[in-house]
Amino acid sequence: MTQVDYLRISLIDRCNFRCQYCMPEGSELDYILKQQLLTDEELLTLVQEVFIPVGFSRFRLTGGEPLLRPRVVDLVKAIASFPQTQDLSMTTNGFLLAPIAQNLYDAGLRRINISLDSLDPHIFDQIIGNRGRSQWQKVWDGIQAAHRVGFDPLKLNVVVIPGVNDHEILDLAALSIDKQWHIRFIEFMPIGNGELFGDRGWISSAELRQKIRDRWGLTESQVRGAGPADVFQIPGAKGTLGFISQMSECFCDRCNRMRLSADGWLRPCLLNETGQLDLKTALRNGISTHQLREQVRDLLAIKPEINYKGRDSGTTGVYSRTMSQIGG
Ligand code: GTP
Ligand code: 5AD
Ligand code: SF4
Repeated sequence: MTQVDYLRISLIDRCNFRCQYCMPEGSELDYILKQQLLTDEELLTLVQEVFIPVGFSRFRLTGGEPLLRPRVVDLVKAIASFPQTQDLSMTTNGFLLAPIAQNLYDAGLRRINISLDSLDPHIFDQIIGNRGRSQWQKVWDGIQAAHRVGFDPLKLNVVVIPGVNDHEILDLAALSIDKQWHIRFIEFMPIGNGELFGDRGWISSAELRQKIRDRWGLTESQVRGAGPADVFQIPGAKGTLGFISQMSECFCDRCNRMRLSADGWLRPCLLNETGQLDLKTALRNGISTHQLREQVRDLLAIKPEINYKGRDSGTTGVYSRTMSQIGG
């Protein structure tokens, strides 16, 4: 059985982009109120006194956009300083990254995943819902800064949207040839606000791989990461290509993770709401961290039953919260 030792921590549900598949214009009305957010102290107490003691050692900071969280560098430093922290990573849209990349690295962040859905600034702006000056260059600068600072691995996430960016697959894949970057193609999920965008359908990873194979050939990587991506490589490339195929191939039986939302809900499965724990309210009601550890242990024990069983299992994914509220 897969060991569940990886926690995705959403630092904030807000975002400075309005990606059409995630948080389109108008959806910000449901933001979590400030007093409902876990404070830094509550978050660190949960990590140190609840999650680490029950066996979590790998942490990914997400959002919304995690770099919008005040004092994010201090949070990174604090989590990195726990001796049991073996892995600390972040998923960001990259817009605010360039000036802060070195500080994050110095604070102990080592791995970073940055969203880059297009190499074409106009298409990029269309996807992220931008109507003003193009944001693409700032994201690209963030990627270059992360590269210079030495984040390793550096992963770029591409959500593949039919009719919008699917013609760029080969150009995006080519980024892995000269640089040790890991380009990951994500099957678009009709989840949360993505449902509104869902009538576009999705393109399977198998179809993308065929396109890439026809152009350069493709070898399957020997090492399967612990995460959701299947990893391949263009022969001779420095980096790799990852495929996250939640629509075409259910990978939930090997799930190694849980999610903590910015308002303190612990969620055992992205696609299933069963078993969620309201840790923030429990903490504020004075429940001891000893009791919270017991509750999380009980949840870990039943996680395999809660894990989503795939679209063909007769169960449907439950998503009353959006990706930005859950933490991507
Ligand atoms: P690492 O494997 O640690 O690099 O991270 P990751 O690939 O899981 O993280 P990232 O935040 O870059 O997520 C990439 C995509 O994978 C996003 O679309 C996520 O929603 C999706 N994803 C991550 N974890 C899960 C999961 O548990 N279930 C499903 N269905 N999708 C996931
Ligand atoms: N389907 C697939 N991926 C999504 N992401 C956000 N919403 C969706 C969706 N509906 C991706 C982002 C980011 C990662 C955290 O999740 O693009 O790369
Ligand atoms: Fe923001 Fe990421 Fe959602 Fe885009 S996908 S709106 S960058 S949280």
